[in-house]
Amino acid sequence: MDVKQRIIQSEEDAIDLLNIALKHEWAVSFEYLFHAYSMPKGRLFYTDPILENPTDVRSRTIQIGIDEMYHALQLGVIIRQMGGVPTFNTDGVTRFPRVIDNLALDKETEDKVTALYQTAKFDEDRFPKIRNMVMNISYDEVRHARQFTAMMDAMRREGQEETLLFTSDPDAAAREDVQLLHTIMRAENELMHRYLKYVVFFSEHQDLMLRLFKNAVDHMKSWDKNAGILIKWGDVIRIENAVKDEKGVERSDNPMPDTYPGEERQDALETLIPAEEELIRNYDTLLAQIPDGEIKEELKLHQGLDREHRFTQRWLLENARTIKGL
Ligand SMILES: [Fe+2]
Ligand SMILES: [Fe+2]
Ligand SMILES: [Fe+2]
Repeated sequence: MDVKQRIIQSEEDAIDLLNIALKHEWAVSFEYLFHAYSMPKGRLFYTDPILENPTDVRSRTIQIGIDEMYHALQLGVIIRQMGGVPTFNTDGVTRFPRVIDNLALDKETEDKVTALYQTAKFDEDRFPKIRNMVMNISYDEVRHARQFTAMMDAMRREGQEETLLFTSDPDAAAREDVQLLHTIMRAENELMHRYLKYVVFFSEHQDLMLRLFKNAVDHMKSWDKNAGILIKWGDVIRIENAVKDEKGVERSDNPMPDTYPGEERQDALETLIPAEEELIRNYDTLLAQIPDGEIKEELKLHQGLDREHRFTQRWLLENARTIKGL
């Protein structure tokens, strides 16, 4: 992220600032989840300076990731309203082997983006709504930086600096069911991001926007639960297109696609049905390979949600086709 001070005089300047921010917000909305989903659950606690409660590092990191998703939506919607094209490109993402190094990176990112938002210099009296939005977001970032700092302080105090994220066991990673779960998780993540694109694109239709948003959240929840299953199976969430260096640090400049089909209501809706169907089929294949038990029941619930999405999407499409003048 380029954090030099921005002077905002024209609409183009404003859209540029918002798109730079959007690339950042997309990246962190994934990056924090990659970090959290690779962390041990219920083992690292800190006292949250805002919540003023003992808090689980992993679950709070997920919540911060969700805040970032909301930031991305706010920026995307306003870029569209201004006649700009919201980017689905993301800044790069990184995963370090030690938990604390990821938190340090996350804190540093929060400080950088706070600076980007708070130092932008707007021409007097121009874009008051955008200025207000940017300042409001910036104080979420201030909160995030304090929360990450408190997590690191607690880890240092408790001698947890060397605590590692989960790593992939090569024998587990080679298994067919594990491979298939990776494929499914990639699709869950991609569909989440893709539904969010359509939320941004169709935000003027509030009913459609909220339905699409619900599906995005469902995909995020399944992605989260699948990440936990993967750890039980001895593997860990994969970052797409990541390169690992000799110290075990992974970096990816394109953790998610930056284009998705469909610019208009109908063609966007058309592309979602086959994507949901493919995901349902992949769950079928996986379910046939694994023994009965808790994990199987959990995966069936995720598949059930995709059947619900398929049903809803079919009717959204049918209604969009039959009701003229939308
Ligand atoms: Fe943010
Ligand atoms: Fe943030
Ligand atoms: Fe779905």
